[in-house]
Amino acid sequence: MPHPTYTNSRDALKIAVLGAGGGIGQSLSLLLKTELHTTCVAADARVHIAMYDVNRDAVAGAATDLSHINTAVYVTWHAPEAGSGPDPLAACLRGAQLVVIPAGVPRKPGMTRDDLFAINASIVKTLSQGIAAHCDLSRTFVLLISNPVNSLVPVLVETLVVAGGHQRVTPQTVARRVFGLTQLDAVRASAFLHEALGLLPGQSVRVPVVGGHSGHTIVPLFSQAVVGTDKLQERVRSLGPDVLSQLVNRVQFGGDEVVKAKNGAGSATLSMAYAAAQVTRGFAELLLGVREELQDTLYVNVGAFAFGEQVTQLTQGLPYVSLPLAISRDGLQAVDTQWAQKLAPEERKLWAVCIQELQTAVPQHQEQQS
Ligand code: NAI
Repeated sequence: MPHPTYTNSRDALKIAVLGAGGGIGQSLSLLLKTELHTTCVAADARVHIAMYDVNRDAVAGAATDLSHINTAVYVTWHAPEAGSGPDPLAACLRGAQLVVIPAGVPRKPGMTRDDLFAINASIVKTLSQGIAAHCDLSRTFVLLISNPVNSLVPVLVETLVVAGGHQRVTPQTVARRVFGLTQLDAVRASAFLHEALGLLPGQSVRVPVVGGHSGHTIVPLFSQAVVGTDKLQERVRSLGPDVLSQLVNRVQFGGDEVVKAKNGAGSATLSMAYAAAQVTRGFAELLLGVREELQDTLYVNVGAFAFGEQVTQLTQGLPYVSLPLAISRDGLQAVDTQWAQKLAPEERKLWAVCIQELQTAVPQHQEQQS
C-alpha cells in the first residue's frame, strides 16, 4: 500500500486498532482515517492506523476500502492467515503508541454486559500479552472498548503488569496509561438532554457522566450540564423530577434500546465508534504535541495512586472508577473531584448505589477470571 510522504516525520504516530474488522472497529477506523486528516496536516506528522482482527476478510476488506480515501492518514491491515508471516499481531503492535481495543463479542438480547465477561476476558488477555510483548508500556496508551469495561479494565491492567514484567513496569506505570472508554454514556446523556430541552441544533450540550459502565453504575450528572460555558442547571431543574429520572434511566439502559432495535444482531456500533473517535483523537493530539493536556472522563485504576484522602473517600477505596481525569503525554496526572461537591440530592443517591454495585460486581468478575 503506498504511503504519503511528509516534510517532517519526527512525530509519526501509529495507532493500532485491535478488532478492527467488527462493527465498532470498522466505523472507528473510518472516523480516524477522515477526522485525523487535519491533525496530520497541522502537525506535519505521519499518522498510521494499523488494523488487526482475527477475521481476515473483514479487516482486509475494510482496510483496503479505507485506503482509497484520499486523506493524509494511512492504513495497513494485519490478520492471521496462511502465509501471512509469523505474527500479524506483532506487526500491528510494533511501534504503536496508542492501542484501541474493540475486539470481542457484542451483547445479544437477554445477555447482560456481565454475561460477556467470560468470553471477552480471554480475548483481552491474549491481546494484552501481545501489547506487553511488542509495545513500550512506559510510552503506549491503551484504550479499552470491549465490554464489560468495568471488569475488563482490571483484567487488562493486571495482565499487562504480569506480562510486561520484563519491561520492569509497576502497576502505577501501567495504570497511568490504560483507560476504559465510558464516553458513550456521556454522548447519550448529552443527546437525550438536548432533545428533552428542545435546544437548537448548534447548541452542543455536555453532560458529565461518572461511575461505572453498566446499568445503575452509570451516573449522569444532568445538574452539571453545560452548553459552551453556560450552565443549564435551572433549565434542567425545570424538567421536574419525573422527567429527570426517566432521562437517567434512559442513559443507564441506553444500550438495551439499541440491542432491542437490532433485534439480536448486536449492540451499539455507530454511536460507540463516534464516542471512541472523540477520545482517540484527543490522545492522538496529545501524542503529536498538538495539545499539552487532555481532560476526559475515563475508567481507570485510580487505586494505584496516592491521590489523597478526597479521592479515596469519594470512591470509598474502590480501585477502578470512571472519573474526570487530567492526562498529559506522561499519562494520568490528576483526578477531578470538584463535581462531587456540586451534586444534586438525587445524584448523591445515584452515586451511593453506583459505589455499592461496583463494590460487589468487579470483585466477582476478578474471581471468575482466575
Ligand atoms: P463485532 O462482533 O462487530 O466486532 C468484534 C470484532 O472483534 C470482530 O471483528 C471479531 O472478529 C474481533 N475479534 C474477536 N476476537 C478477537 C481477537 N482475539 N483478536 C482480534 N480481534 C478479535 O462487535 P462490536 O459490535 O464491534 O463490539 C465490540 C465490543 O465492544 C463488544 O465487546 C461490545 O460489547 C463492546 N461495546 C462497548 C461499548 C462501550 O461503551 N465501551 C459500547 C458498545 C459495544
